[in-house]
Order: sequence, then structure tokens, then C-alpha cells
Amino acid sequence: MMKRKIYVFDTTLRDGEQVPGAKLNLEEKLEVAAQIAKMKVDMMEVGFPSSSQGDFEAVRAISRKIGQDVCIAGLGRAVESDIDTIYESIRDAQDPLIHIVLGSSKVHVSKKLQKTPEQIIDIGASSVRYAKRYLPNVQYSLEDASRSEFEYMWKTIEAVVKAGATIINIPDTVGYAVPEKFGQLIYRINDRLKNLDPNVLLSVHCHNDTGLATANTLAAVRNGADKVECTVNGIGERAGNTSLEEVVMGIRLHEDYYNGYTQIDTKKIYETSRIVSATMGLDIQVNKAITGENAFAHSSGIHQDGLLKSKDVYEIMDPETVGAPPMELVLTARSGKHAFLHVTEKLGFEIEQEHTTEVFERFLALADRKKEVYDNDILALFKDCPNVRSVFDKELWQLEEYQMTATSTLPTASVKLTKGDRELVKSSGGAGVIDALYSAIMDAVGYPIELIEYRINNLSRGKGSLGKVTVQIKYNDKLYQGKAIEQDVMEASALAFINAVNKTVLDVEK
Ligand code: KIV
Ligand code: ZN
Repeated sequence: MMKRKIYVFDTTLRDGEQVPGAKLNLEEKLEVAAQIAKMKVDMMEVGFPSSSQGDFEAVRAISRKIGQDVCIAGLGRAVESDIDTIYESIRDAQDPLIHIVLGSSKVHVSKKLQKTPEQIIDIGASSVRYAKRYLPNVQYSLEDASRSEFEYMWKTIEAVVKAGATIINIPDTVGYAVPEKFGQLIYRINDRLKNLDPNVLLSVHCHNDTGLATANTLAAVRNGADKVECTVNGIGERAGNTSLEEVVMGIRLHEDYYNGYTQIDTKKIYETSRIVSATMGLDIQVNKAITGENAFAHSSGIHQDGLLKSKDVYEIMDPETVGAPPMELVLTARSGKHAFLHVTEKLGFEIEQEHTTEVFERFLALADRKKEVYDNDILALFKDCPNVRSVFDKELWQLEEYQMTATSTLPTASVKLTKGDRELVKSSGGAGVIDALYSAIMDAVGYPIELIEYRINNLSRGKGSLGKVTVQIKYNDKLYQGKAIEQDVMEASALAFINAVNKTVLDVEK
């Protein structure tokens, strides 16, 4: 049987941007929209144009600049003035979509909207007819559908489809649904909808209040939904929306089961996730599926050993499929000799056979102190190990000294770095000390590097706690990750950056 296409509708810039503190300015919205478009989503909802002049202008700017290759949707209520404003804001896009939302559950109809059920059906159908005077494509959302009475919901769907709606969206607005029941609901609606008009797309929009948004969305796909609404990193109202990366990869890994596919360029997922997180100031939980820092990191000795024998022992997808840095073996005191030797070999070192146990013991003592051991720690450890020798002709960067001055007028930084026999001293100013520090390091490195993400985490409590810095840099259109742990977060910042730069050296000079 031919696989069906599952349409991906991204609402990061509408439902996602409703998150407190995540509001973006116009320039940031354009940047995020361009990045989301790179993933090849089918449709992109970019705002609620009647909510403010700023939102209107952002939707209009995105429609003009990015809306030539992707369908652009604007959301509004079932009132004429909202629909007028949506149309004005999206009319310059090549494939614009008006999205109307109106409640369908008892509690919404009687308490929020304070109308009779029949009045709501009339308002919904009239608003669709009104929107159709402007555009051929209109999506109608039955807000709080998962808590609505089925036959009333169906009457509404029938009326709005007859009025011209081209997409029917079934939201689990309050995150109340569970997969089996939601799947059955979608099955029943789809059965009738495809008889009523097979060209109308059936869509779902789930929220994550009980952590089931992805499961509910996939259950809907399995039961006939043609389109999924989601956000990057699952951001959105309260506990968030369905995460785009989870649903897309869920379908990708089980295309036969879902008998479907999406057109998402999955290799763009990781970078998009980082850009959304950094511009909106919303951290991604470390264990977040697909895009979390630990999503492809393995720390248990047994797992590391298994992976080194064959990746598929513990890996269901190659991190490269989503554009993430390669699988990471995190060296800790729980790592075995196999993983330790693998990492040292990758850094270009050879330990004399009869001394491996002794060097491994030194590593374990270091790992006990530092929790996680990164490349800079290994390089420092080997500096005074007589039985370890470098076998690469590649030379890695090492930090010898650094100095930073934080002032309100001109923050500056100087670094002394070595690369083999070469020694470089560089200084720079910047918008802040980290900016100055990274400019000085980039100056020494000498090729263009873009900083995509910079993050500090506290690893323990109290004054003497350890700081962990994680950076993502982009070089030659590829992402590289570097991490470091130190008591001094400035030192950790320098080392994390250098660790990432060394990954480019090891990769490029392969
Ligand atoms: O959660 C919801 O019901 C919505 C609609 C606008 C689709 O965001
Ligand atoms: Zn929503």
C-alpha cells in the first residue's frame, strides 16, 4: 500500500511563543521562521495577528520574506475583524491559510462563550464562509475537542465543512486525552469526515499536561489523522505542545506501522532546536528526547562497551539523522577501560601496553574528582604521563593561560594557547567577558567559527561548586559540541570552547 504523507504544521511562533518570557522581536521571529522553514515543514503558524500591532507586523513580515516556499497560517477567533486582520497579515504569502478557533466543549460553549450550542455552530460556519471570501484554504479548530460531546462535535464539523473549511483540527487543548481514547476519537471522526469530503484534511493539536502529547498525536496518526500540529522542543502553553522532533522521528522509525511519512529534513532538527532554545531563552531539559543534551550520550560502562562493539546494541537512530553531534561516550568513574582507551585513541594517543592499567587508574582518580572527564582533562592528564605518546600528526589546541577583565566600559580577555610547538597570545574586547574570551580564541584559531549555544550549569551546591559549560559551534556547516567542568566557570568556558574547536581539528584533518 502507498504510504500517505503526514503534513507537519509548526506552531512554534504562535502557541510556542505564548510561553511567558519567550516573546521575540521581529528580527528574532524572522530568524526562527527561516530556520523552521529549513526543516521543510508543510505549514507554519506564525502568530495571532489581531492580538497586537507587533504580532500583525511580524506575521506580515514573515509572510513576505519566508512565505514564498511554505504555507503560512495566522490564527484568530471566529469574528470578522480577526479574520480581516489575519487576511491582511498573510495575503502576501504564496499559500496563506486562515486558522479560526472556536470552543466546542460544554464548558467552553456555556461558560466561556455563553451561547447556546446551536448559536456556536452558526457562528463557526458563518466565520468560515466569511474567511472563504478571502482565501481558498481555511482551517477550523474545535477548541477543547477532546472534552466535547461527540455528536455535537460532529454537527459542528459537518456545518463548517459545508461552509468550506479545508482542514478540521481536533485539539486536546487542556492536555486531557489518553492515547487509546484519543486514537478512537480520531478514528470515528475520520471515518465520517472522509465520507463527507475526502479532500478535507484531519489534523490534531495536542498539549502535554500529562506528558502524553507525542503519544496522543501518534495514536491519532495511526487512526487516520493527516496532519500534526507541533512545536520545536515541545514548547507551548503550560506543559507545552507536541514536540515536532519526537513525532517526526517516531513516524520515521516506524513508517510501516503508521503507513506514513513526513517531508521533514530531519538533519535540520538539532540546529533548529538550539536556535529556538537560545532565541527564546528556554532551556531544553537534558534528557529531552531527540534534542536533549544527553539524548545521544552514554555513560554506563556496560552500555559504552556494548556500543563500541556495535552501535546498534544501544542506538536506535544515528545522531547524524537529526543533525546532532556524534554519539558521545561520557567518561566518568563508571566508564570501563574499553571506553577510556577509545577516547584516548580518538585524541591521537597511544598508551604502552604494559602501562594501560596504571594510566587507567590515574584517569579513575581524576574522574572521581571531576564527575565527568572531557578532552582537555585527558590532554592535561597525559602531559605528565611518560608512558603515553601522541601518534597523530594533528595538533590539538591547549589552554595555557587566560585573563579576563570585567568592567562596565570595556570587558577584555587575553589567552595564551598552544598547538604543538606553536604558542599564540591573543587579546580582545567584547560585549561581555565571554564574548571577549571567545573572540580572542577565535582570533588564534584563525578560521570562521559561529557560536550557536553557550550554557552554564551548576553541578553541585555551595560556594566551591563545579560549573559545567556546554557550547555548540558551527564550522563548515556542521555542529560541534564541547563541554568542560571546572570550579571557575570562566576557565570552563574557555576549555569547553577549545574542546569544540579541537573536534573540528580532528574532523577536518581526518
Ligand atoms: O490548544 C488549542 O486548542 C489551540 C488552538 C488554537 C488550536 O492552540
Ligand atoms: Zn494549543
